[in-house]
Amino acid sequence: MSIAIERETHKKVIVPPIKIQGIKTKLVPFIIETVTWNQEGRWIEPFLGSGVVAFNIAPQRALLTDKNQHIIRLYQDIQSDRINSRVVRQFLEFHGAQLSKEGKEYYLEMRQKFNENADPLYFLFLNRSDFNGMIRFNKSGGFNVPFCQKPDRFSKAYTTKICNQIEAVASVMRDKDWEFKAAPWQETIIRAQRGDYIYIDPPYIGRDTSYVGEWPESEAIELARLAHETPADVCLSMWKENKFRRNEHLFDYWSDFVWHERDHFYHFGAKESNRHAMTEVLATNP
Ligand SMILES: C[S@@+](CC[C@H](N)C(=O)[O-])C[C@H]1O[C@@H](n2cnc3c(N)ncnc32)[C@H](O)[C@@H]1O
Repeated sequence: MSIAIERETHKKVIVPPIKIQGIKTKLVPFIIETVTWNQEGRWIEPFLGSGVVAFNIAPQRALLTDKNQHIIRLYQDIQSDRINSRVVRQFLEFHGAQLSKEGKEYYLEMRQKFNENADPLYFLFLNRSDFNGMIRFNKSGGFNVPFCQKPDRFSKAYTTKICNQIEAVASVMRDKDWEFKAAPWQETIIRAQRGDYIYIDPPYIGRDTSYVGEWPESEAIELARLAHETPADVCLSMWKENKFRRNEHLFDYWSDFVWHERDHFYHFGAKESNRHAMTEVLATNP
């Protein structure tokens, strides 16, 4: 492991302004511990999502892509300083006050406008006031997550928290050679070269993927093939098993990689008896 990454492990985890299903905030220390990389090439993520892993690895050079153009546009705008904490505060204070007055109707109006203008500030507003911070689109690409049902969502403290998250990610990417691009994962993987490090966090097979559209097994198999052929180093994030099921795809297509395992717990409801362990794997190429 390189010294630069090692130092990052002692820091507090940077939480990004975007929420998404499958966000790896809790796994960041495990990922940093597991990744061995000399930082000569680029840090590559073909499934960037919230970007929490890249922001905490904080490499000098990176290629960060996702098929969700809204996430990418938001980060491109932060990178160019078109969006910064001042702009976000103004936007959220204004629209948050309208939301307080009009509630759900206002949320739906913002959602309608976003589906017409694709403005990243609207995306941020929706992502931070929708149901469970979900990201989901209908078949025609329209954002369709319902309201969180809290008209006072954008309290002063919450708005400040989001502005601080914008500032935190802006300061990590400042003066770094990072490329954000909306792209299908295949385009990104084939750009990887020796010395690069690819962190792969695809939608999980066998789990709900409605937020990304289709993630058929054929695509997962194609991903395993290209990840085996790339000259770059690779780390895959994947669930292995819980009390009820095991992920056969991992056993079938990734068993020649080195598996680093970590249990984490999640709850169904409040009862302690409903506490279940899920084993997550980081699979690195040998
Ligand atoms: C599990 S999430 C990644 C989570 C991320 N590591 C984090 O911690 O926030 C999977 C991501 O893959 C993206 N995605 C799904 N299908 C894709 C495709 N065909 N090409 C590129 N990205 C895709 C989704 O938009 C989503 O952001």
